[in-house]
Amino acid sequence: MPFPTIQTKQLQLIELKEEHLPALFEQYSNPEAMQYWDGFPHKDLADTKKLLDHLIERDKTGTSIWWGIELRQSGELIGSMGYNRYAANGLAVIGYMLNQKYWHQGLMTEALTAFIKFGFEELKVHRIEAHVTPGNVLSEKLLLKLGFMNEGLLREREFFKGAYQSLIIYGKLVSDK
Ligand SMILES: CC(C)(COP(=O)(O)OP(=O)(O)OC[C@H]1O[C@@H](n2cnc3c(N)ncnc32)[C@H](O)[C@@H]1OP(=O)(O)O)[C@@H](O)C(=O)NCCC(=O)NCCS
Repeated sequence: MPFPTIQTKQLQLIELKEEHLPALFEQYSNPEAMQYWDGFPHKDLADTKKLLDHLIERDKTGTSIWWGIELRQSGELIGSMGYNRYAANGLAVIGYMLNQKYWHQGLMTEALTAFIKFGFEELKVHRIEAHVTPGNVLSEKLLLKLGFMNEGLLREREFFKGAYQSLIIYGKLVSDK
């Protein structure tokens, strides 16, 4: 199946490729953007290449799919987002990252709206989950605006950045639309 691109008014969600490494590095090396992410800021392009290879490898198994977020007007890659584990029992866990230069302009709202529609309608996902680290209020605001429900806090659920981290689970069902 050819890679499914998704178009919105200002954005195009596209297949991630090696040529996007510098733009991805800019996003994933930013300490503020990585503050609530389940990994440390990237130190060099090799860290970003490892991430990209991992995402591409998982896409090949058909259980995960990640897009680059491109500004249609300039062709600049300004973010990335994806579904993890979407083949497992109709459940998909999402992740998303926007270059900080583009925060507070509604661009992730635009990208996620189309991306969620694609998940329910094309990937036939039943439930979409987002795992938010406490303190990531921008992410929580975004999810609530898009109709996700705060389903509670899982205490010290995952181990990353050298510590057990609690996660707030947000969920949206296909029937919540
Ligand atoms: C989470 C993240 C994507 C949120 O970014 P964001 O800029 O707040 O989200 P949006 O692009 O949708 O912008 C929404 C903001 O734009 C404003 N806005 C401006 N024009 C708008 C428009 N036309 N439509 C909608 N919102 C608009 C909204 O009011 C809102 O601003 P506010 O937060 O001051 O109320 C971003 O902080 C990020 O990438 N963080 C790092 C990675 C991360 O933590 N990911 C989440 C893991 S769970």
